[in-house]
Amino acid sequence: MTNERQPGKKSCPSCSNSESASGSESAAAPPPGFQDAAEYERLRSRMGLIQHKIVVLSGKGGVGKSTVAVNLALSIALSGRRVGLLDVDIHGPSVPKLLGLEDTGVPVEADLISPVSFGENLKVMSLGFLLRSRDDALIWRGPMKMGLIKQFLTEVDWGRLDYLIIDSPPGTGDEPLSVCQLIDRPDGAIIVTTPQDVALIDVRKSITFCRRLNLPVLGVIENMSGFVCPKCGEVTDIFKSGGGQAMAEDMNVPFLGRVPLDPAIALSGDEGKPFIYHYSKLATARAFENLLRQIPERNDHNEDPADTKGNTAAATNDRSGTKDDPAAP
Ligand SMILES: Nc1ncnc2c1ncn2[C@@H]1O[C@H](COP(=O)(O)OP(=O)(O)OP(=O)(O)O)[C@@H](O)[C@H]1O
Ligand SMILES: [Mg+2]
Repeated sequence: MTNERQPGKKSCPSCSNSESASGSESAAAPPPGFQDAAEYERLRSRMGLIQHKIVVLSGKGGVGKSTVAVNLALSIALSGRRVGLLDVDIHGPSVPKLLGLEDTGVPVEADLISPVSFGENLKVMSLGFLLRSRDDALIWRGPMKMGLIKQFLTEVDWGRLDYLIIDSPPGTGDEPLSVCQLIDRPDGAIIVTTPQDVALIDVRKSITFCRRLNLPVLGVIENMSGFVCPKCGEVTDIFKSGGGQAMAEDMNVPFLGRVPLDPAIALSGDEGKPFIYHYSKLATARAFENLLRQIPERNDHNEDPADTKGNTAAATNDRSGTKDDPAAP
């Protein structure tokens, strides 16, 4: 027979063989994108060892997704749970920089990639660990990206984890789509936005994306919400304030809270020292961590997702000092 579609026969849009799509082989056939059933099984068994998977998303670039993903992963790890942090931003992987792991490579043995350990409970994987130099760039189309993400999920030796946090690039493109297609039922998405309309217009699309994929929205974080002057404490709403909360209420998804613009957050990113740990004496860091702590708590206890009351991470701006413990993760 040929691979051409024939009238009257069932055909599957994702494969070229109309007979096998309806024949007895179909039970063992892997979903599109997998070479064979064994590859699909490897992914399923690897992911089966990880209890919860959370995707960090935003329709807009530069709003703080990676900052939230890194600090969320660390916050859960500091609570004693085993956490993986997967950076699926293929064109601009920033997790290695934010964790001070920029020149770290990863050993690959017998097709198994070892993730990079960060402190006791956190394992990290990013394309940044595989690039030859900091300035390397990949020019890849969608199917190649899906192949790499599949490899990160299947061939990275994550072991048993309580949580896998996945940091996505901006938008609703190939990377978050591949993650949602490859992982059988992620727990949900954390959506990061800034308060101004220009960001919110794009971020609303992320919520629509989640709905189309049946991915629960675990909550919206409004980042860069007001700037607290470190000298006088006066709050200036540089990107306005409250837009993320209003959008969450309007779209009927939970609002988790606000994080102000704080130069210490930008500094901690550039230093590769996660904010909630190294700057834990700052009020912003404590409030940021309280906000992040709600995420596994809500998820573990499956609390009422209709609660839209957010707390603000900018109650005060105590600058009494920073943590710089050499034993830090
Ligand atoms: N609340 C904040 N106050 C000050 N700086 C911040 C804040 N949140 C994030 N930043 C800084 O803003 C920059 C962008 O943050 P980040 O890389 O987390 O954004 P992103 O959404 O992941 O970006 P991209 O879309 O490129 O992946 C970083 O330098 C980060 O340190
Ligand atoms: Mg990022």
